[in-house]
Amino acid sequence: MNAATSITLTRPDDWHLHLRDGAAMADVLPHTARQFARAIVMPNLRPPVTTAAQAAEYRARIVAALPAGSRFEPLMTLYLTDNTSAEEIRRARSSGIVHGVKLYPAGATTNSDSGVTDIRRCKVALETMQREDLPLLIHGEVTDPQVDVFDREGRFIDDVLLPLRRSFPGLRVVLEHITTRAAAQYVAEAEGRIAATITAHHLLYNRNAIFLTPDGRAGVRPHYYCLPVLKREMHRQALLAAATGESARFFLGTDSAPHPKGEKENACGCAGCFTAASAIEMYAMAFEEAGALGRLEEFASFRGADFYGLPRNTGRITLARRSWTVPAELAFGRTTVVPLAAGETLPWQLAD
Ligand code: NCD
Ligand code: ZN
Repeated sequence: MNAATSITLTRPDDWHLHLRDGAAMADVLPHTARQFARAIVMPNLRPPVTTAAQAAEYRARIVAALPAGSRFEPLMTLYLTDNTSAEEIRRARSSGIVHGVKLYPAGATTNSDSGVTDIRRCKVALETMQREDLPLLIHGEVTDPQVDVFDREGRFIDDVLLPLRRSFPGLRVVLEHITTRAAAQYVAEAEGRIAATITAHHLLYNRNAIFLTPDGRAGVRPHYYCLPVLKREMHRQALLAAATGESARFFLGTDSAPHPKGEKENACGCAGCFTAASAIEMYAMAFEEAGALGRLEEFASFRGADFYGLPRNTGRITLARRSWTVPAELAFGRTTVVPLAAGETLPWQLAD
């Protein structure tokens, strides 16, 4: 059988995206809007988006920055804090523009210092979210400095997520950017309404990518550093199996997280991989590796919409089998951003 030369699928959505703000946002937004119909936009700005009013303002800034004619729709989120009130959750729900509330354990990742210090402080907000059926989106890592960075997702599931879901069994939960076999297994088997997003980079790379070039040369590669950090090959294989498998609980979320070049190539480089400019192509590459290109549409275009209770998109995109090289840098406000896989060749390209 000849390999396919093009793939057409229903226009996908990105269920986990960092757009940032201001001129930098205006530069990265068109990359996402070209590929995706909608995206769940993360609220970890400085200061974070903690109210429905701030979410509406942020949404308006995004819409104003869209390229002419774009019909891209930003789906907003609130940033959960120890002080999020029941009224704010109700305002978010009735706004119609807020589609989830994000839990960042304080200090877990970029701009998470206003995050939750103890989930027990969020009882009222979580009760209201459960009642109003507003999903909780979780960065699932513990932050205890004693816990090994590679074990933080597993510890979060055992120590925080299991008790949380026992206390709020009706709460809709998305475990974001899962990175381990244990997380995939938990999400596949758990009771109740739970799903997980999976990034393209966790499907394509294991943790060697942080320390080795594709041809095996040693060296720290900061653009491959994100949180949760890339894991061992067996975890990548488990994520590929989950993404390409039968369960409707796994769907696309890029976690594209741009940082200025100088803040990545730094003695204390920021966590985050910028993948928005090549996202669907990277997912296609991963699905092809698993012999599952036929499942890409379900993962990228159907399951997330179904879980969030939104209509499936009707437009289509086409990917052509046409090698191209990921550019070295792209515009990012007053600076530049280095895309993940810069200089690498991808076999699929989005056709305009
Ligand atoms: C994200 C960012 O830079 O905002 N970084 C990352 O490594 N994924 C934050 C996050 O989602 O953890
Ligand atoms: Zn993220």
